[in-house]
Amino acid sequence: MGLAATVATAVWVMLPAYVPNNAAVLAGGGRPIDGGATLGGKRVLGDGKTWRGTAVGVLAGVALAAVLNAVEPTASDALGVALPTFPPAAMVALPAGAMLGDILASFLKRRTGRERGAAFPLLDQLDFVVVALALAAVAASGWFADTFTLDLVVAILVLTPLLHVVTNGIAYLLGLKNEPY
Ligand code: CTP
Ligand code: MG
Repeated sequence: MGLAATVATAVWVMLPAYVPNNAAVLAGGGRPIDGGATLGGKRVLGDGKTWRGTAVGVLAGVALAAVLNAVEPTASDALGVALPTFPPAAMVALPAGAMLGDILASFLKRRTGRERGAAFPLLDQLDFVVVALALAAVAASGWFADTFTLDLVVAILVLTPLLHVVTNGIAYLLGLKNEPY
């Protein structure tokens, strides 16, 4: 696969893992997952990880994967690239893994004394993608092995931080997010 096709495939295949974070920002609020509980004097996760944000984030990712499955023939034709579709296990694993990665990152942030909203460079940009890929590799192993070539994984790991910085910068400028990361 050429570079342009690899980049297009990387963005396409990770969209169901990218959208949950943004949907959670829009839907967030309400009861925190940790219910206010603390560990060693610090919140377990903090008020930034809510049930509503997590549920809406996962549902948004599943819905997007369904839309991508429906438009795949058209999109593949238009781009001249054989884009992958998402089997049911991947439709759930990618968004659920993305939300889980974000939650695990908050857990690590609180354990290292970072308050809600504090930056943790690289962890902020890659937490969701690493766990989304790991969960997809476990839940949809055959599909994962067929779809994720080494160059695709490298493209994802390079592109994701760039896309994350840009989309969060836009969300910050629009007043949707308190910090641009
Ligand atoms: N959000 C949510 N539930 C999630 C993830 C995010 O409700 N599982 C919402 C919260 O309103 C959160 C906002 O999206 O404040 C931004 O998400 P994020 O940057 O991940 O959280 P932070 O508030 O920065 O908290 P943390 O330091 O724990 O990452
Ligand atoms: Mg944050």
